[in-house]
Amino acid sequence: MTSERALPIAVLGSGSGSNCQSIIDAIEAGALNARIVCVISDVEDAPILARAQRHGIPAEHISGAPFKTKIAGDAEKQYIARLTESGAEVIVLAGFMRIIKAGLLEAYAGRIINIHPSLLPAFPGLHSWKQALEYGAKVAGCTVHFVDGGTDTGPIIIQRSVPILEDDTSESLHARIQIEEHEAYPEALRAITSGRAKLIGRRVALS
Ligand code: GAR
Repeated sequence: MTSERALPIAVLGSGSGSNCQSIIDAIEAGALNARIVCVISDVEDAPILARAQRHGIPAEHISGAPFKTKIAGDAEKQYIARLTESGAEVIVLAGFMRIIKAGLLEAYAGRIINIHPSLLPAFPGLHSWKQALEYGAKVAGCTVHFVDGGTDTGPIIIQRSVPILEDDTSESLHARIQIEEHEAYPEALRAITSGRAKLIGRRVALS
């Protein structure tokens, strides 16, 4: 751990928050030089909010309405206002199920990262582990990437693979991918907090 100041990050999520938990655990273990300044969910009763609160992290619900799959308009303004007020310098999407549009992207250009449950560019979009299983792929995994204007198209920071087994179900495969996610997200954040992640074109060099 360096003596440099802890990077203020915000986590956005819509569900269980197990990835957020892995980041909290890494910080509390002294393995990640960051502090979570706020957790925001577009889902009022998402467990991610309770997880954050249990660790003394400010957590709140901000609706994404009127849209179902994106953050835009007034909702986007509310997100930007809260994130600005929190002092977050990097926005971490951890199971946040809405597309980030131009306003938020421009406010945090190059400083929004996401975790996706596939080896991108394969299987972008929803339920990617299920897509991989149904396609008949032999390998699945997860990707941590910078967010750009496309759907799961931004520069890749880290990927981890898992084999797809003959007897895998959608649930068993997602569970194994999540084990890798919980290692990959803190690892990618460590590369960012220590200044080792350098964007060269659309490639991310981890020096
Ligand atoms: C994770 O598997 C994450 O990769 C996925 O949602 C899950 C959230 O789990 N994200 C996406 O599918 C984004 N397109 P969590 O709430 O337990 O972290």
